[in-house]
Amino acid sequence: MSLPKRIVLVGPMGAGKSTIGRMLARELGYRFLDSDRIIEERCGANIPWIFDVEGEKGFRQRETAMLGELSVEPETVLATGGGAVIRVENHSALKKDSLVVYLRTSIEQQVERTRKDRNRPLLQNDDPEGVLRGLFAIRDPLYTELADIIMHTDRKSPRLVVRQLVNRMNPKTPRQQRQVRKEGRNHV
Ligand code: S3P
Repeated sequence: MSLPKRIVLVGPMGAGKSTIGRMLARELGYRFLDSDRIIEERCGANIPWIFDVEGEKGFRQRETAMLGELSVEPETVLATGGGAVIRVENHSALKKDSLVVYLRTSIEQQVERTRKDRNRPLLQNDDPEGVLRGLFAIRDPLYTELADIIMHTDRKSPRLVVRQLVNRMNPKTPRQQRQVRKEGRNHV
């Protein structure tokens, strides 16, 4: 089985897209791209500043432009922002020549992993857990619809997630190949 041209990681805040993406890219010899970080570099400002000055709408416009630009890069692993799926016009850029992996993560894990973070404007309020629940209700069906692989990440180390993904994409042993056939469309 040949490797996909690009691997696109989608999922909520705190799913581990950046950590897993970086490790996966290293493992495959692909380049790692992080849409949010590149937006920040280009803008010369961080995401809270962009939300403050341009509003969420301004950020989403930048995100759409960035996803379009990055969707032509070969041999890359792309970590997207949690809201990349909410605009239908982003879907073709996300899917183009890509294997889309949804890193599915419980609300509890999302809360735990984002607890101390100050760089996510949507969570700087009295009820970040409520926000994460609300976003999950809207976005989980979108992530699921776009995904070629749904990877459950709770109680798994990033290293294990990467190993399972690599096995999944390029099953080497007969046992791995049987496993892939059995899992069908893809809850790992
Ligand atoms: C957002 C997720 C963030 C970032 C922005 C908005 C969202 O990315 O794009 O704060 O709407 O869920 P991460 O998923 O990498 O935290």
